[in-house]
Amino acid sequence: MAKVAITTKFFSEETERLREAGHEVLVHEGPRLGKAELLAFAKDAEALIISLADRIDEEVLEGLPKLRIVANLGVGVDNIDIAAATRRKVLVTNTPDVLTEATADLAWALLLAVARRIVEADQDLRREGFPGWTFLPKHLGVDVYGKTIGIVGFGRIGQAVARRARGFSMSIFYYSRTRKPKAEKDLGARFAPLPDLLRESDFVVLCLPLTPETHHLIGERELSLMKREAILVNVARGPVVDEEALVRALKEGQILGAGLDVFEKEPEVHPELLGLWNVVLTPHIGSATWQTRRKMAALAVDNVLAFLRGEQPPTLVNPEAWPGGKARM
Ligand code: NAP
Ligand code: GLV
Repeated sequence: MAKVAITTKFFSEETERLREAGHEVLVHEGPRLGKAELLAFAKDAEALIISLADRIDEEVLEGLPKLRIVANLGVGVDNIDIAAATRRKVLVTNTPDVLTEATADLAWALLLAVARRIVEADQDLRREGFPGWTFLPKHLGVDVYGKTIGIVGFGRIGQAVARRARGFSMSIFYYSRTRKPKAEKDLGARFAPLPDLLRESDFVVLCLPLTPETHHLIGERELSLMKREAILVNVARGPVVDEEALVRALKEGQILGAGLDVFEKEPEVHPELLGLWNVVLTPHIGSATWQTRRKMAALAVDNVLAFLRGEQPPTLVNPEAWPGGKARM
């Protein structure tokens, strides 16, 4: 029997699966745990199921010597020091694939909401009533159909965003670390170096992980390359964009607008973003549908149960930490 600690409110059918397999399960349902609280809560745990708001660093790993596996409820693992976990042979798992379509849907929801000024129109209608149909209303937006989309990070979510763009007859550019010949053929997407993509696109959608290389990938210079009527959508991670530079660009009309699901200093939101009419802001809800969150919970539990049975977890991020696994280069 192992102790499994879950740092967030969870689906009861998934905690039951763990208990039925004979494990002790602790669930923390309150607000996010600070570091000391996390260490006390997860004391002696072999397995930890965590939310993206939890940070697993060297100190936490040091403080939890019995820990063998960390199952992240999310695909991005920038909240975990993977190198430190690997050094200590702590396995890290994530939840890829199951959240791809929900996150691509949210990227599109933001794109359309900004382009057609939906949130602003809704707020004005509630506040001021419907003034009657006019030919040139306050909420004139921009076309989406037939325009050009540039997708930065062309993995699972980026390609899912592109599949939807085909339904809008868009020209599709992408920029990624490596070329994707199959996706180019299947989706009619064209590779472009980042500066070219930024110059050409009416909509730029960020779909890549946060790493030292992608931190502030979009800064003042990159924003200045974008069209004045372009819209930026970020469903990746906040620090991929220099938020100060973005606020300046939005205020000065250097770009038309932005749809942001993620923020540089979450859960803080840049105060000036809150006052801008040309942004739509959501609180990191890319994968937040009932169906997707159930699949993410199930996958996290599948990973923990596989490990506790002595099997390699299905979505292991650091196979180097698995006995006999490859050493990190
Ligand atoms: P993925 O399949 O691994 O795709 C990531 C893509 O980014 C890959 O194509 C990768 O290129 C590219 N990339 C990585 N580093 C790069 C760099 N330095 N320059 C250019 N391209 C780079 O991951 P995914 O499942 O699509 O998820 C992507 C990210 O979305 C996650 O890491 C997470 O941060 C974020 N996310 C956010 C939400 C939300 O709620 N808003 C939900 C889910 C995911 P290669 O293919 O060449 O390696
Ligand atoms: C959400 O942000 C994720 O990485 O799954």
